[in-house]
Amino acid sequence: MRAFSYRDGRMVAESVPIPVIAAAVGTPFYCYSQAAVAEAYGGFAAAFRDMDATICFAVKANGNLAVLRVLAGEGAGADVVSEGELARALNAGIPADKIVFSGVGKTERELAAALQAGVLQINVESEAELAALSRIAGERGVQAPVAIRVNPDVDARTHRKITTGTRSDKFGIPLDGTPGMAADACAMGGIDFVGIAVHIGSQITELAPFASAYGRVRDLVLSLAADGIAVQRLDLGGGLGIAYADADETARPPTPAEYAECVRTAVGDLNCRLIFEPGRAVVGDAGVLVGRVIYVKESGGRSFVVIDAAMNDLMRPALYDARHGIEPVTQPAPGDETAIVDVVGPVCETTDTFAVRYPLPSVRPGDLLAVTGAGAYGAVMASSYNARPIVPEVLVKDDGYAVVRARIGDDVLMTHESYPDWLADSHQAGKAAVGGSR
Ligand code: LLP
Repeated sequence: MRAFSYRDGRMVAESVPIPVIAAAVGTPFYCYSQAAVAEAYGGFAAAFRDMDATICFAVKANGNLAVLRVLAGEGAGADVVSEGELARALNAGIPADKIVFSGVGKTERELAAALQAGVLQINVESEAELAALSRIAGERGVQAPVAIRVNPDVDARTHRKITTGTRSDKFGIPLDGTPGMAADACAMGGIDFVGIAVHIGSQITELAPFASAYGRVRDLVLSLAADGIAVQRLDLGGGLGIAYADADETARPPTPAEYAECVRTAVGDLNCRLIFEPGRAVVGDAGVLVGRVIYVKESGGRSFVVIDAAMNDLMRPALYDARHGIEPVTQPAPGDETAIVDVVGPVCETTDTFAVRYPLPSVRPGDLLAVTGAGAYGAVMASSYNARPIVPEVLVKDDGYAVVRARIGDDVLMTHESYPDWLADSHQAGKAAVGGSR
């Protein structure tokens, strides 16, 4: 299924014309297709049907409650990295016994919240965290199900800012330190050692790094078994990439089936329950960011299309040099001229650029553009930089849609600010505007 396609000359999300949503909601906004989320999740889960596998959607990729509820309905678990993500997953209806709590810096409060909720497992990343968890679980009289996240020292060959499994990265326990830590975990009160976790990075577009990391995990599991330490579960992380606009044939990411085959080869005979934490592969292609052209200008020998969406709404181009596709919402007619343009936002930084020298049918102010592949790490990373509103999110199902996060504007954001006493009286009008000092 193509979640976003052209019908009667305009782009639809499932069966809802994007211009209809834009007219009602205003721009910019994120638009997700429920069917696309369900289908991508289903495709991933189906690839592991013949294995004992639990799919825990990485909430960091898209934490919208409605999106999470769709995934809950499909049977997904969740991978969470904060108390906030845990609360979202539970609120959306994901059962605690399908929730994995990951992250290199969980606070004691977060560890307690994970235990309180009764999560499936906590992936521990340091001796200090293990000791804290042992104490907190002991105080509560419970056993914390623990997996040790290892750092396999494998280069995921992805953008340097989202690789996590090389030796110098902050994540995990070095392989050679893991047996000692596993033995400690087995001996500690309050700790139930259940397994090993690994995650080497995100937007991975080839199987070799996975194969290499999982091969090292396999060796580790066998050597732990030889030492009498049973590994019941293997959490193999997320990381499977999607095709963005810059993907050529060689950068075509593996399919879930190809990825599953790689997993089966590496660890299929170990008799472990498998856990996966996909984020991007589930929601990436299920969302677009819709913006409207404000101006078209020629400057310095270049053509700039200035749209009302910006880096604060979608950080990925600015942060990772990501290249998302950009498609006109009005279907170009055959033979329409294409111009080579830079598509930019209004924020006062040169890095607020969605595309450089990008072929686009000629557009005019008022036209709508869809930035594709924006369902993962889009809305979750949005900010109000330049005092721009937090971008709204819309979920489409068949021929209906709903705003699933409202636009959060200055009217709301300013109510969270206040003047300290020593400034409170100096400008009565301003004080009134934000409701006075506390
Ligand atoms: N598990 C762990 C422990 C992770 O750290 C991550 C992502 C995932 C699972 C999900 O990975 P995925 O399947 O989505 O690749 N903001 C960046 C991506 C950061 C990913 C961080 N960790 C971006 O926009 O590309």
